[in-house]
Amino acid sequence: MATPPVKKIACIGAGYVGGPTMAVIALNSPDIEVVVVDINEERIKAWNSETLPIYEPGLDEVVKAARGRNLFFSTDTKKHVGEADIVFVSVNTPTKTTGIGAGKAADLTYWEGAARLIASVSTSSKIVVEKSTVPVKTAEAIGKVLKRNCSDPSVNFEILSNPEFLAEGTAIEDLQKPDRVLIGGVDTPSGQAAVAALKWVYNHWIPVERILTANLWSAELAKLTANAFLAQRISSINSISALCEASGANVQQVAHAIGTDTRIGNKFLSASVGFGGSCFQKDILNLCYVCETLGLREVADYWHAVVTMNDYQKQRFVERVIGSMFNTVSNKKIAIFGFAFKKDTGDTRETPAIDVCKGLVRDNAKVAVYDPKVTSEQIFRDMSTPKFEWDRPDYSRSHTRLLDNVQVCATPESAAEGAHAICVLTEWDCFKHYDYAAIYEKMTKPAFIFDGRNVLDHDKLREIGFITYALGKPLDPFLQKVY
Ligand code: UDX
Ligand code: ADP
Repeated sequence: MATPPVKKIACIGAGYVGGPTMAVIALNSPDIEVVVVDINEERIKAWNSETLPIYEPGLDEVVKAARGRNLFFSTDTKKHVGEADIVFVSVNTPTKTTGIGAGKAADLTYWEGAARLIASVSTSSKIVVEKSTVPVKTAEAIGKVLKRNCSDPSVNFEILSNPEFLAEGTAIEDLQKPDRVLIGGVDTPSGQAAVAALKWVYNHWIPVERILTANLWSAELAKLTANAFLAQRISSINSISALCEASGANVQQVAHAIGTDTRIGNKFLSASVGFGGSCFQKDILNLCYVCETLGLREVADYWHAVVTMNDYQKQRFVERVIGSMFNTVSNKKIAIFGFAFKKDTGDTRETPAIDVCKGLVRDNAKVAVYDPKVTSEQIFRDMSTPKFEWDRPDYSRSHTRLLDNVQVCATPESAAEGAHAICVLTEWDCFKHYDYAAIYEKMTKPAFIFDGRNVLDHDKLREIGFITYALGKPLDPFLQKVY
């Protein structure tokens, strides 16, 4: 079978997935023109500027090397999608907030919008690649939208699922040297030709043995399953962190002991205040919804427990803070170190910091947030956005009472000045190296540190005079008396 040539790729959606993925494809494939399109003009402007719209280590260099050569960012969707041989779709797939499947099912409004657009501008056959997280069997529905909305009967659409496994903060590394690339397609000659074409693109820099192929449904389900398994590890260790605190064990020692068993492995065993990010919760809820619609209630309940445990961990942390501070945080300033959902990203989608800050503010605390990469505008937006609405670019926000008790600070020192406590919610490396003795001097006493990521040296902090809480570890003697 001759491999069809791919001269031009378009990607609909210039977000966290579309932007970096296309930049790396362009960098490694100088013979292919890659154009990323988006309806958001500001975003496209930023991709064409010196300050990219997302922070990702190594991304600036990749974009600089390829932009203007064979990598372009544009709002002219019609032209570039129309001309492309392959169209990646990397648009928002929010969780539905109303109607059937509310709080679980994916809302495919943006996906369908993208499919209608592709159909309306296509005068030649195209390979359409699912890149966003979508529930299993979406490709089938999208295939129908494409066929029914294209006026030219000679145009054929082949749909592939090519799930994204990159993790933010290490996206460029993950894209340059992936463990594997997965391509799902249908088992027809034209379906397999489409798989071969996409394989040919990735093979510019990824060895064939790392490019796995599967049927369409397996590829879609593999994405949800991978994230469910990873999130399950975190919820499992987080459940043990609660048990450690109650019993005097140390969760890091437990994690180390089990992680050295090669059958278990040592990754994704860091207990934390909870997992965040755009994928884990959304993918698990999607998985649960798919199971429910197929009548598999027990399976849905099994996976849903991973999300329940994550919510419990965030709530447990808030209760720990309030309980330790003599059962009241009313009018007390609490410094929040870190708002991003993990280090090395400015992304705050589903960050545990939102629920923790909301929990503290509901008890009338005054939170002062410092994060090295998250903008104050983003923090205020997150604090005024209801659950699940973050993934809607068109959601309009209004001022809520919660915001009156939120302050965003430009330095960690100003966040901590006069504060009764510091809560560490993101594992930024820089948090390890602050002058905590100087910070302590300017705090209200007794001064507490609640380390939700276990990044600080608690022995040193206790020497300075802090009352400290290290998640999943034996309690500070002061806290033992309080409880
Ligand atoms: C994840 C998957 O890793 C990636 O393959 C997928 O395609 C997208 O979703 P991402 O959300 O970027 O990537 O970040 P990840 O590194 O997986 O972390 C998710 C959350 O889990 C973060 O909040 C992180 O802090 C938390 N986490 C991770 C822990 O709490 N403990 C750990 O041991 C690891
Ligand atoms: P992800 O993390 O999956 O990349 P993002 O929210 O960062 O998600 O990016 C999705 C992008 O898709 C947004 O920039 C949004 O403006 C864009 N988008 C959504 N619908 C369309 C559409 N019909 N045409 C073009 N771009 C779209």
